[in-house]
Amino acid sequence: MVNKIHFGKRIAALRRKAGLSQTDLAEKLGVTSQAVSKWECGNAVPDIDILLELSRLHKVTINEMLEDMDLLRELTGVETGRSGIAYFVPEQERDCNVEWADEVRGGSWIKRNWERSRAADAYMDALGKQIASCHGIILEIGAGPGGGYMPYVLKADPDATIIISDLSPTVVSEWKSLLDKTVDSPNLYYAAFDFCHMPFRDSCIDVISDGGGIGNCEGEKAKALKEAFRVLKPGGRLITSTGFVNKETLAALPAEAQKILLEKRPDVFEDLYEDTVLAGFGKIDSVISGCWYTDDDESTIADLARSLGVNLKFTSYTRYCTKE
Ligand SMILES: C[S@@+](CC[C@H](N)C(=O)[O-])C[C@H]1O[C@@H](n2cnc3c(N)ncnc32)[C@H](O)[C@@H]1O
Repeated sequence: MVNKIHFGKRIAALRRKAGLSQTDLAEKLGVTSQAVSKWECGNAVPDIDILLELSRLHKVTINEMLEDMDLLRELTGVETGRSGIAYFVPEQERDCNVEWADEVRGGSWIKRNWERSRAADAYMDALGKQIASCHGIILEIGAGPGGGYMPYVLKADPDATIIISDLSPTVVSEWKSLLDKTVDSPNLYYAAFDFCHMPFRDSCIDVISDGGGIGNCEGEKAKALKEAFRVLKPGGRLITSTGFVNKETLAALPAEAQKILLEKRPDVFEDLYEDTVLAGFGKIDSVISGCWYTDDDESTIADLARSLGVNLKFTSYTRYCTKE
């Protein structure tokens, strides 16, 4: 059976891509703009002659317009539920995360970050364009309240195919409700899963974008990198950003602070290069993008640094890893 909602979203996206208003399209097809509006809202499907016209106009097959493709089912074998989100973790937030999830929701973090991402940002806009230009299936992992690179990819290409994912079901559902209202693209998919155990079959994703998810990994970062390698298609890329405390910064700290930090947070001193090589990536390019200091931050590592009386400098980088 034809999914009218899906069909409506798809033809609305095609119309927008062609730079046509509903009235322009109605004129071209010799129908009323109310008829176009009805199709796009999922209340009706046009007859076969009009479908043929649409297919010629947008240079897509009728099947591509009509087919209710469940990308997540195709890639994981699991159907997206009625909520439009595929869950590979319990739908309820984990006890340890409830407080944070409430803050994300109550403080409208996602809406605020989305609005912030609409302003010009040379570095992020360029990265968004670069990721969008790879085409194919983009998987945003650990999207978090900032959405990683996804908001910038959508700025570059509102019709990009993106799977928006996070371990936190709240983060995923909050992104879905915001993007349903703002972008309403048929090419956005939502999944809650642990990126150290991705639910996808091997070699099926074109690009994995990660704006700080692996850097803040709950679990083993090395395992996340291995999983990224496994699910990428040959030639596919992982574009990942994070930060670390380099050897010079560590050496300049008081001995006691060094000892405690190495004991409690050895992960912040890892630049993950070796793990990226061990995961299998053949071509790895890293670009230093800047730095940040714990005194300006509210993270757990910032709290620990403050308790030790030190202001840690993190070097931020973006890494382009190709599965050759
Ligand atoms: C603090 S956020 C920062 C990065 C995030 N991309 C952003 O732009 O806000 C880190 C996110 O990574 C997610 N995360 C951490 N470990 C994860 C894992 N193993 N699998 C999936 N998501 C994870 C967290 O739930 C959180 O939303």
